[in-house]
Amino acid sequence: MVLLDIVLKPMMNDEQPNTKTALIPNASHSVQDADFSFSTLAICSDRKVEKVSDVAPPIHLSTTYSMDSDVSDGMIYSRVHNKTRSRVEAVIANLEGSDDFKTVTFSSGQAATSTLLFTLRPKRIFKRMVENTEGDDEAGYAGTKDSMATLRAFANFYCGVVKKELLSKIPATSEENGKKVDDIEDNVMKVIDITKIEEEVDMDQAMQNQDLSPNSKPIYKGDIIWLETPLNPTCDLTDIEYYVKIAHQMGALVIVDSTFASPALQQPLMIGADFALHSTTKFMGGHSDCLGGCVTTKSNGYASSLKSNRSVLGCVMGNLEAYLLLRSLRTLQVRVLHQSQTAEVVAKWLHGQIGNEETNMQVTKVHYPNLAPEQSSQEGLTTTDQETAASTPKYKKLTNYEICQKQMNGKGPGILSFELKTAEGSRKLPQLLEIIEHATSLGGVESCIDYRFQWDRSTAPTLLRLSIGLESPKDLIADLKTALLKL
Ligand SMILES: Cc1ncc(COP(=O)(O)O)c(C=O)c1O
Repeated sequence: MVLLDIVLKPMMNDEQPNTKTALIPNASHSVQDADFSFSTLAICSDRKVEKVSDVAPPIHLSTTYSMDSDVSDGMIYSRVHNKTRSRVEAVIANLEGSDDFKTVTFSSGQAATSTLLFTLRPKRIFKRMVENTEGDDEAGYAGTKDSMATLRAFANFYCGVVKKELLSKIPATSEENGKKVDDIEDNVMKVIDITKIEEEVDMDQAMQNQDLSPNSKPIYKGDIIWLETPLNPTCDLTDIEYYVKIAHQMGALVIVDSTFASPALQQPLMIGADFALHSTTKFMGGHSDCLGGCVTTKSNGYASSLKSNRSVLGCVMGNLEAYLLLRSLRTLQVRVLHQSQTAEVVAKWLHGQIGNEETNMQVTKVHYPNLAPEQSSQEGLTTTDQETAASTPKYKKLTNYEICQKQMNGKGPGILSFELKTAEGSRKLPQLLEIIEHATSLGGVESCIDYRFQWDRSTAPTLLRLSIGLESPKDLIADLKTALLKL
């Protein structure tokens, strides 16, 4: 697939009717069945939301709408409806390969995560783990872990209430029933290491869509697999197709937090995932000026539950933010492709600094998925995937590089991370840079570097996360080189 002209084809097995309508309402020629390219959809797919002659979309700031006796348009109050928001949702839905009304935007990525979990109320969540100095921890964005822990605490509180109620009804002699009641809390929103699935499932069978034997079913209906790929902050990739195959055989759901890729590099719904989630604050917003999040699905049912829960929880995207995001999506593809290209150049340069006296031999590791295998030296790249592959004989797990070719059109994210010799050096480097901003967050037009350990103890204390903006790679490299020499 040529990325600059991606043609999105809806998945054949989508059980929901396709509600795509003509891109240009009342056009004399019918374009509704055509396969539009990504770049066209980013520009045109919101035109049908409202009929205006403005070429640039209008911004609707009103919180309330004047009502005729007939409220057929359904516009009552902006916590529920807003045309600027509907426009941005139509564009995202089309960029993800869903259809017009199945994206739900939120006030932040965190609100998107919490509302989705609140809506699905999963029994168990399978997630990638990481080893750190204090033992095993959940890998990926730390806020997601917090959201799961908070919802679990709520669930446990209500389980406690239910348990008390049930225990009062069970005869004291019924020991077995008492034990079952005791187990209730253990089965609510438990977070489980995703590798437990690989240990029990014959992946060869799963990948060939063969029926899995009943004794190798570690995951059930009501469970979810939560994939964050690329992973914050190491950019490790997970093979979405691999988990979709297992989950769907068991009736479980797959959620992909695709924030680091954006739809310009990865479209999880096209690979079969049930939900694609983003912090739109990052690459989709792209200018570090609007907080937001979104979830896209192919299911009418889930889309309407998410909308209704968003209204109840009140975590809607602001009208101004929706406008800014819409403007940013027009240029998403050009920005992200450029950021991806520059990130690869910078990652290669940093990789070349490993053990290099010219930069004080400061760099010890580079984490970037799209470095060709010959550059994936043991010390240079993360080897987690290769190690897992060696210890899992049933199915050859793909490396980061292979997954990047398979599910990201061979383009790495516009972000990378690298490690220095000492934690002290890593803490100091951001202050020595001139072009690259010392700031958290990512995906903006300005490059930002973040010492993650200060926020997130599950990351290595020597690691720096570098989000690449739209500056010239030559200048970014010069900035890094000068700072490394000052250490
Ligand atoms: C991968 C990922 N998901 C979700 C979020 C949360 O998004 P927000 O900051 O917009 O709430 C972040 C924030 O950094 C993130 O990196």
